[in-house]
Amino acid sequence: MAAAASQISISETFDSLIRSLAVAITARFPLSPSMTKKRILSGIQTTGNLHLGNYLGAIRNWVELQDDYDCFLFLADLHAITVPHDPKLLADNTYKVAAAYLACGIDPERSTVFVQSHISAHSELAWLFNCITPLNWLERMIQFKEKAVKQGENVSVGLLDYPVLQSADILLYEPDVVPVGEDQKQHIELTRDIAVRLNHQFGRKKEPVLKVPDALIRSDGARVMSLTDGTKKMSKSDPSELSRIEIGDTPELIKKKIKKCKTDPMRGLEFDNPERPECNNLLTLYMLLSGKEKAAVAAECADMGWGQFKPLLTETAIAALQPIQEKYQTLMDDRTYLESVLKQGNEKATLIANKTLAKVKQVLGYAKPL
Ligand code: TYM
Repeated sequence: MAAAASQISISETFDSLIRSLAVAITARFPLSPSMTKKRILSGIQTTGNLHLGNYLGAIRNWVELQDDYDCFLFLADLHAITVPHDPKLLADNTYKVAAAYLACGIDPERSTVFVQSHISAHSELAWLFNCITPLNWLERMIQFKEKAVKQGENVSVGLLDYPVLQSADILLYEPDVVPVGEDQKQHIELTRDIAVRLNHQFGRKKEPVLKVPDALIRSDGARVMSLTDGTKKMSKSDPSELSRIEIGDTPELIKKKIKKCKTDPMRGLEFDNPERPECNNLLTLYMLLSGKEKAAVAAECADMGWGQFKPLLTETAIAALQPIQEKYQTLMDDRTYLESVLKQGNEKATLIANKTLAKVKQVLGYAKPL
């Protein structure tokens, strides 16, 4: 009995010693968010001004995820040249989108914000992926087909290869989830297919080379539609500026766009009627921009006509965008600060990206760089 009692007390003392040691070590070396939190990665092309689709379908989501995830958010300036571009605007557009991220609520203390073209691992991994991706996987991408029609004879290899570069963007950072709008679902599926293929061909069963991430698509706002056609998504590339509200639009412009937007002749306003796509879209915009619940909006607007609803939506959109616009202007006036945010982000992202790239090169059989 006495021996057993002394054994218990020795093991208890040992346990409590280990516990105190663990507390002391964590206090001295706190775990970084990347060691404790799941990771997200996402980005936006630096072509043109951001619109409500980008804000409500993507950025707003990232802002909310910042508390719970280790966030990697980048500026897709390599993707920006897959359509004809003006070299005089390219660099400025990168800063504009960076300022828009921060103005919408991305916090560089909690999120890593960086520039795609500053990290050469993106292009390099895309090349390696090119050599294991069947051509027909790319030829069936819906976005490629849509954009290729618009460009006719001038379609570049880059446009076809766009989703492979996107796969490299994602897989380099080993994220758990990729928060995007509905239109990116197929590209995330392709990313998963590329990762699975590489793991299958070059990995060991129990030791996959690449982590296979999931898409994270919101149930609300994942598909914001055009103001001039409720069956088409709101898009930067729509030739009509009236089709989208941009984050930087002045109150007068917002008023004009909503005044001219397409509606229908039916009485009363309602969600989810497939014969009234514009009505559903405008009510959804009102719901998201006002922060009200769907049921409350349905009840509030059920008996309204367009003449009463449009000024309400205008006022709500102006009020929601005003603080973002003010912050955006302050950030655009402080290039030094924006540069420091991106420099810090680039440094952190480069370390992770290079590690994954080295792992892929190794399994493909490359000699170590000398
Ligand atoms: P981009 O610039 O076309 O879109 C950026 C984000 O905005 C979302 N989005 C929308 N969401 C709702 N309704 C809309 N009308 C709407 N329009 C755009 C998009 O779904 C996207 O989330 N290919 C990406 C850029 C990219 C990327 C990546 C994203 C490059 N590499 C890696 C994630 C991970 C794109 O479509 O950008």
